[in-house]
Amino acid sequence: MRFDVFTLFPEVFDPYLETSILKRAIDNELLEVHLHNIRNWAADKHHTTDDTPYGGGGGMIMKPEPVFAAVEAELGYPPDCPLILLTPQGKPFNQNMAMKLSEQPRLGLLCGRYEGIDERIRQHLVSKEISIGDYVLSGGELPALVLIETIARLIPGMLGDPKGAADDSFASSLLEYPHYTRPPTFRGWEVPDILLSGNHASINQWHRKQALQRTLKRRPDLLTKADLSQSDIEQLYEIIRNTKLEIPNEIKEIIKK
Ligand code: ADE
Repeated sequence: MRFDVFTLFPEVFDPYLETSILKRAIDNELLEVHLHNIRNWAADKHHTTDDTPYGGGGGMIMKPEPVFAAVEAELGYPPDCPLILLTPQGKPFNQNMAMKLSEQPRLGLLCGRYEGIDERIRQHLVSKEISIGDYVLSGGELPALVLIETIARLIPGMLGDPKGAADDSFASSLLEYPHYTRPPTFRGWEVPDILLSGNHASINQWHRKQALQRTLKRRPDLLTKADLSQSDIEQLYEIIRNTKLEIPNEIKEIIKK
């Protein structure tokens, strides 16, 4: 899979792309990330990429010409793959979107900077706008890395363990169960006995129950989207009974079905 990133700060990507799983994916030719510095397409001698907004107001706005020139030079016009603008005004990013996007062979990512971008870039160049959360960063570079890593993890062959991505929190709409490794006792705190039992059926049941319990306590909203079996619903009942939790309305809805 190939990403073409359009940014004013290509240098911030390198250290992250040269580390761990993304580096391995690039070395193994499963992933290509091409960085394009928008400033290289600014035509004036000062390489200007921003200007003051028409109508006044604070801040500077990304000029359309260098962005259009950069994208057209790399992707053509109209762009021959989706071009995603990273912006807090975009659709909130989630694992489902990552899964759909991972089916694309190539994606363009446009990183905004300054107070905003000229609206004509949005209207005539960008095909999708994505936000990584309801907070404002100084630019789209970190969000672009978030997208690259989340999507790249889903490329077949990316993770050593083929089950790796499927087990992640959110892949099944449940949060992950707690994990432990050696030593079995650390500062007097013990690993739950069941995990040392070698009984895989019981361990799987324990994992499922822990995942249900965590999701119920921390993110009950996710349970409405989860693929729950009758036994999951019974477990949820039991957890609610034993912990005297208020039953969230979302769960009442599920149990009614
Ligand atoms: N640019 C600035 N803040 C952002 C956010 N939360 N998501 C995506 N792009 C952004």
